[in-house]
Amino acid sequence: MTIYARITGTGSYLPEKILSNADMEKIVDTTDQWIRERTGIEQRHIAAEDEFTSDLATAAAKNAMDMAGKTSNDIDLIIVATTTPDQIFPSTACLVQQKLDIHGCTAFDVQAVCTGFVYALGIADNFIKAGTAKCALVIGAETLSRILDWNDRTTCVLFGDGAGAAIVEASDEPGILSSHLHADGSYGDLLNVPYGVSNGLNHVLSGEAHITMKGNEVFKMAVNTLGRIVDETLEANNMSKKDINWLVPHQANIRIINATAKKLSMSTDHVVVTVNKHGNTSAASVPLALDTAVRDGRIKKGETVMLEAFGGGFTWGSALLKM
Ligand code: ACO
Repeated sequence: MTIYARITGTGSYLPEKILSNADMEKIVDTTDQWIRERTGIEQRHIAAEDEFTSDLATAAAKNAMDMAGKTSNDIDLIIVATTTPDQIFPSTACLVQQKLDIHGCTAFDVQAVCTGFVYALGIADNFIKAGTAKCALVIGAETLSRILDWNDRTTCVLFGDGAGAAIVEASDEPGILSSHLHADGSYGDLLNVPYGVSNGLNHVLSGEAHITMKGNEVFKMAVNTLGRIVDETLEANNMSKKDINWLVPHQANIRIINATAKKLSMSTDHVVVTVNKHGNTSAASVPLALDTAVRDGRIKKGETVMLEAFGGGFTWGSALLKM
């Protein structure tokens, strides 16, 4: 019998503190109007000083486990997609495992920046199809506020903190129909944090390790690349645009989202948009949007959903789901 992987629960968590565009006007030379018109963002959530990526991830995970009716004993794989891990090690997945009182299962992090959750979902799909796991906890979680230059108006208005999660279970019914994961490291200079542990630790320690981005060039690449991955995903499944009920895109910029929706000839009321509420939360943004539309009843069982993301690396990917 063929084993499939299905999403049986979703969850998300946003930190309590909200920074509105009006608040951003007090921090850098910007306006609410510029931010809304260029990005669609109205506000972002910021983690408290004593709140870490693993805390956000654990809160989202608990919500997903509740929806799927799973306890800690059921989970046999934990994958956390994050660019902002709590520590160099243990992995954030191990920290989440400990917070959920889970012992012994496979647990590791995935680093694919904004495409991280789609990568993690693709990996979980393969673990389950291979029979190596039966019930995976897949999380995207970030505290991007910690790596922003709060004096740089071209980046600090764009990002926020948050987490989203999914329970992915073995099933005899198709769930994840396909996943498509790509990267091209030759574009690393267009979007990065140029320092880390091995290269420029002194900059990290002095608080100068920030997101840098050539926004305009990233924008054009994102629109073109996401257009191509829509075609790749449809072709791999012998489907046409009209077979897709919902688009759940990476939440970076409403103009990029609208361009992908147009490529799918999809009316905006079948595109899940949450970027206005939390800005770009990198690996958390796709599962945050998915959870929002599952919980408010828009996405229903049996419907076909396309997830897609694009981010630093460059990395990009998609997954087609039967809910
Ligand atoms: N407030 C006011 N003005 C601003 C701000 C701001 N916050 N930021 C930039 N500007 C100014 C610029 O200085 C520039 O002024 P100038 O014309 O006098 O030089 C003007 O606005 C236009 O700047 P552009 O960069 O050309 O603006 P653009 O329309 O490209 O929008 C944006 C910028 C929103 C960053 C867009 O390029 C974008 O969304 N890029 C893609 C982001 C993305 O998807 N990233 C991928 C995922 S992120 C990840 O992987 C971590």
